[in-house]
Amino acid sequence: METCEIKKVNTAYFDDEVEEILSSLERTRCEFWNLDRASANFLNMLIKINNSKNVLEIGTSNGYSGIWILKALEETKGKLTTIEFWEKRQSIARKNFKICAPNVPLEPKIGSAIVVLQDLEEEINALKREKFDFVFIDANKKEYVEYFEIADRILKSGGIILADNILTHYEKTLPYVNMLFSDKNYQSQIIEMGAGMMISRKN
Ligand SMILES: C[S@@+](CC[C@H](N)C(=O)[O-])C[C@H]1O[C@@H](n2cnc3c(N)ncnc32)[C@H](O)[C@@H]1O
Repeated sequence: METCEIKKVNTAYFDDEVEEILSSLERTRCEFWNLDRASANFLNMLIKINNSKNVLEIGTSNGYSGIWILKALEETKGKLTTIEFWEKRQSIARKNFKICAPNVPLEPKIGSAIVVLQDLEEEINALKREKFDFVFIDANKKEYVEYFEIADRILKSGGIILADNILTHYEKTLPYVNMLFSDKNYQSQIIEMGAGMMISRKN
């Protein structure tokens, strides 16, 4: 039988220093639960295609996906807010961010995602900050529904929510999937890439 040898990923090209950091993070990705390269490339492209400028990441870890987000934001001239409750991980991420995208505005938040999301919502309601136009969900799979309930209120119309681990953790993420698929205010699609991602666009 003939085998299909089509190359499936042609990622953005970064300079040697950035590539070196990405490659070293890829070697430890199972330990830090990072995205695979194809999913990270997709995330980077989505931000650029949507021209997103105000991105929220839930689940920083050591910053692998954050680097891909920041590289997209270099192009769209945007800003990243990223949440992690494990201080040590986020300090590794901050070092990586400083080397890979030193000029992109960054707001690292340490704490439980739901609490930080509530704080962000309060600031938005008090007109102290703008709504987000892109939310990447990649933290506690059992809390995806709660993340969405707040994310929905702090996301602009036309904004995107991308959630990871939809297929690898389908039992935990099923309530999230069902909620989005029954929400007429969102257009959603599950993508069989990496751990399985669900992309949802707010009407
Ligand atoms: C799957 S990893 C994130 C990987 C990262 N997005 C990447 O691809 O490089 C999930 C991260 O979320 C953090 N986390 C899990 N539950 C959390 C919560 N309730 N609040 C804040 N952070 C949480 C974990 O400590 C972990 O570092």
